[in-house]
Amino acid sequence: MCGIVGYIGTRQAAPILLDGLKKLEYRGYDSAGVAILNEGTITVEKTKGRLKNLYDMINGGKKLPGTVGIGHTRWATHGEPSDVNSHPHASESGRIAVVHNGIIENYMKLKDFLIGKGYTFISDTDTEVVAHLADYYYNGNLLETMVKIIHRVEGSYALGLVSSDHPDQLIAVRKDSPLIIGLGEGENFIASDIPAILKYTRNIYLIDDQEIALLTRDGVTLYNTYLEEVQKEVFTVDWDIAAAEKGGYEHFMFKEIMEEPQSVLNTVGPVLRQGLLKFDTIPDRISIVACGSAYHVGIVGKYVIEELTRIPVEVDIASEYRYRNPIITKDTLVVVISQSGETADTIAALREAKKQGAKIFGIVNVVGSSIARESDEVLYTLAGPEIAVATTKAYSTQLTAVYLLALSLKKAMGQLPPEDEKHYADELMRLPDLISEMIEQKEKIQYYASKFFNAKSVFFIGRGLDYALSLEGSLKLKEISYIHSEAYGAGELKHGTISLIEDGTLVIAVATQEKLFEKIVSNIREVKARGAVVLSVATEGCEMIEECSDGVLYIPKTDPLFAPSPAVTLLQLFAYYVASLKGCDIDKPRNLAKSVTVE
Ligand code: G6P
Repeated sequence: MCGIVGYIGTRQAAPILLDGLKKLEYRGYDSAGVAILNEGTITVEKTKGRLKNLYDMINGGKKLPGTVGIGHTRWATHGEPSDVNSHPHASESGRIAVVHNGIIENYMKLKDFLIGKGYTFISDTDTEVVAHLADYYYNGNLLETMVKIIHRVEGSYALGLVSSDHPDQLIAVRKDSPLIIGLGEGENFIASDIPAILKYTRNIYLIDDQEIALLTRDGVTLYNTYLEEVQKEVFTVDWDIAAAEKGGYEHFMFKEIMEEPQSVLNTVGPVLRQGLLKFDTIPDRISIVACGSAYHVGIVGKYVIEELTRIPVEVDIASEYRYRNPIITKDTLVVVISQSGETADTIAALREAKKQGAKIFGIVNVVGSSIARESDEVLYTLAGPEIAVATTKAYSTQLTAVYLLALSLKKAMGQLPPEDEKHYADELMRLPDLISEMIEQKEKIQYYASKFFNAKSVFFIGRGLDYALSLEGSLKLKEISYIHSEAYGAGELKHGTISLIEDGTLVIAVATQEKLFEKIVSNIREVKARGAVVLSVATEGCEMIEECSDGVLYIPKTDPLFAPSPAVTLLQLFAYYVASLKGCDIDKPRNLAKSVTVE
């Protein structure tokens, strides 16, 4: 969701900005633009559509001389995707240009105020108020101007700003939207995310909310809103640029599925070697809060934690949680799950829970992200950078993180005798191999995808953990293939939805939980009797399912609690092949964003 890149140095800025924006494409966008400062003038070039359009428009950047600039990929919130609504936005005087990620919530009020002062607006965006506000407050000093902007705007923002009066400065600030500062030799950068600048530097400042970064060619100084200098440690990125590149695969999504065994091993191994996580106190209740696929992990978490520890667990979509006046006490453990660590609703939910005294346990992939920083304890999923919008390896590592959390609590409660701990640890350490076995079955999965990719509507059904898994299987399929799909608790189907089953409707029955095999077989028969075609995902050795299904894909036997792990890889691959056969833009599905930094 909106990507920002900024550069100040001695090289031509525009090609560097284009290159950085390319690395941020995964975030989702519908238009792109740059503003370049050269010989006392700012030139803005921007256009609707893919980055390629901008690239062609400015001849790969060559058309725009200048060594200072800001670039942006926009994911429309206020105003349709169009040339004029694209960023950067410039002040009427042309003296200031700005890029923004986030939402200025009081922009209507500010717009009225600025119109009253004689400013004219040309776009429908909230961001344009920042350009005019900057012009209004500009007193020759960019830092002071920025402080005034911060005091006036409400909402979330990552801002990059240049002024033709200051060819040696680039200024940036963030609040509730991601922004990092890259430190180079004789050049410095701003970006929404590390891959955008990793080619140029590994040294980063992770700035906090309302910290202002003033970049020159020779250095970066950070200030608080009183304009006192802030000291910050340099964070060194320890992963390689190759981790954020396709490495010969056609799609990031496929590459990231291939990386699952290693990612899971990286996440589980260190915690098991240290003898699980330590808990001084045991919570009375657990509240899991997340969005999208991370929320689906939370539902698996509910089943697993309750089964193993008997601690009551509730799971909420973050955007609902924050507005439902949840019951939180100091004995509640709030588990916040997020790949990016920057999802706006999840951050807001975390803050609400914290305010009410809960302890926050973050399961986060991006080191140094907002959620990681604001949690009391963090368990990092070590999936590495995930680029495809549809999450795969991050989901898989989040699952294992939830298993580790459940087992750690059980141990802290004194309910995990050494032989049980060994059993679970062995099973967890087997997961990378089981996931690899799923990957080895990819031709068979592709075969079933080729049989069913023309489906108009799909129902995933399952019970217990298989229901939780169905939710993710269904989301994966619909988000990248655009086939309508729904997940239902298998027993619930007959309370309405079964009326949608007709001749040829595809039903994917998930049956990995042995104790529920007979129940799901009955549900399969119910839909078959109404004409459905059934593809089942079952645990090896479950002949009952084979007899009543039109096709079966098997997962290897494991402790039933861990079955979602290999099974989700299978469902991810199925979704991938269906979308591929349909010719979809797999890594960048329409309308979606990787990191949803607005409410
Ligand atoms: C977006 C992504 C999903 C992701 C969700 C939550 O919608 O497309 O794949 O599950 O955000 O993101 P998070 O970074 O908090 O896990």
